Amino acid sequence: MPEPLNVLLGVSGGIAAFKAPEIVRTLRGRGHRVRCAMTRSAGAFVTPLTLEVLTEHPVYREEYLEANDSGEELHISVARWADVMCVAPATCNTLARLALGLADDFMVTTSLAFTGSLLVAPAMTTEMWEKAPVQGHVAALEERGVVLVGPVVGPLATGETGMGRMAEPQDIVAAIEATRRKGDLAGRAVLITAGPTQEALDPVRFLSNRSSGKMGFSLAAEAASRGAKTHLISGPVSLPTPLGVVRVDVTTAAEMAARVEELAPESEVVIMSAAVADFRPVTTRSSKIKKGAGGPDLKLEGTEDILARLQTIAPNALRIGFAAETGELEEEARRKMKEKGAHWIVANDVSRSDIGFGSEHNEVTVFRRNKPAVTLGRQAKRRIAGRLLDLVKQELDGVEAEVAVTSG
Ligand SMILES: Cc1cc2nc3c(=O)[nH]c(=O)nc-3n(C[C@H](O)[C@H](O)[C@H](O)COP(=O)(O)O)c2cc1C
Repeated sequence: MPEPLNVLLGVSGGIAAFKAPEIVRTLRGRGHRVRCAMTRSAGAFVTPLTLEVLTEHPVYREEYLEANDSGEELHISVARWADVMCVAPATCNTLARLALGLADDFMVTTSLAFTGSLLVAPAMTTEMWEKAPVQGHVAALEERGVVLVGPVVGPLATGETGMGRMAEPQDIVAAIEATRRKGDLAGRAVLITAGPTQEALDPVRFLSNRSSGKMGFSLAAEAASRGAKTHLISGPVSLPTPLGVVRVDVTTAAEMAARVEELAPESEVVIMSAAVADFRPVTTRSSKIKKGAGGPDLKLEGTEDILARLQTIAPNALRIGFAAETGELEEEARRKMKEKGAHWIVANDVSRSDIGFGSEHNEVTVFRRNKPAVTLGRQAKRRIAGRLLDLVKQELDGVEAEVAVTSG
């Protein structure tokens, strides 16, 4: 049984607070020590008594600021006690206070004194979730390394179905336990590519594809948060750079190939998740193509095969390619693995609208040389990234064990 964690569960005032007792029970059932902090509003949704009984510990509330006459600075001692702090549910208000560092209650004050892994599980209606201030606060928290767990699409308290439902308690517990893996890729050099490329036809038009870059950015965020020295070569996307990641922006397949040539030889793991254009115009017109009958006669040529090149430029790296398919997943993946000398091909079915390009979710199958395939069922891209890096970690450890046996 792995070491139990000291978990501080912050509960704010949303309907989903009724699930906080289940989170506490699941955590305790798995051997963790739990304490709870509640906002003033949270008390309207779940009683402190319930959480006190389940945690076997008094609940911290905002009154501590007035009531604490023992001289003990509780927010400091609790922040030092906790390995993980998770706010579930996190309301719009609490997300804003956490993002701005408004230390006006015990929970946010403690979050500022706390130096471990902070997770937030937002819960609200779709309209609230999509509002610019809420998205701004979430982005600010993520940029500082706060782990976002959900929200997910599902039935909401209003009776509608949509984005904003709190992640399920067992997923929140899994995310809390996943913080244990922090640092397990420390010192590893990981190179990731992400996003589409753009191949210019003329000064205003280009050939491209629907890749949003979310899968590659999730992989980079996860790798960096686990201590890997992470380089991310990205095509044109509108995503913020994850904390701790060195990002290199490119536009075309040729530029991406050139940057991979530079960085891959120093990498132990190379994950090619970019949707690189397979074709580009033979010539790029220097002036805008005029509108005319029938349209221009476009001549296309193949682009660099970056994954195949890796066999030569990074022969010792673990080489992983992504394949977006619309048909026979396994057949195509195995063909690519062989032809391009990749160790693994991560295949996803882009004909499905609920996963893949642009979606927050993905479902992939990892085909590996001489090892059974592993399917990672539909889940948030960040969680897919986590599971994929768990497999990478196992592979790196396995490779090292083999080397140690051979050399001994
Ligand atoms: C019945 C009811 C349900 C609410 N549900 C939510 C919710 O799911 N998400 C949310 O962000 N706010 C919700 N609110 C609004 C928050 O309770 C309110 O913004 C409050 O100030 C949050 O304070 P806190 O973040 O300090 O707990 C709800 C309010 C009421 C009255």
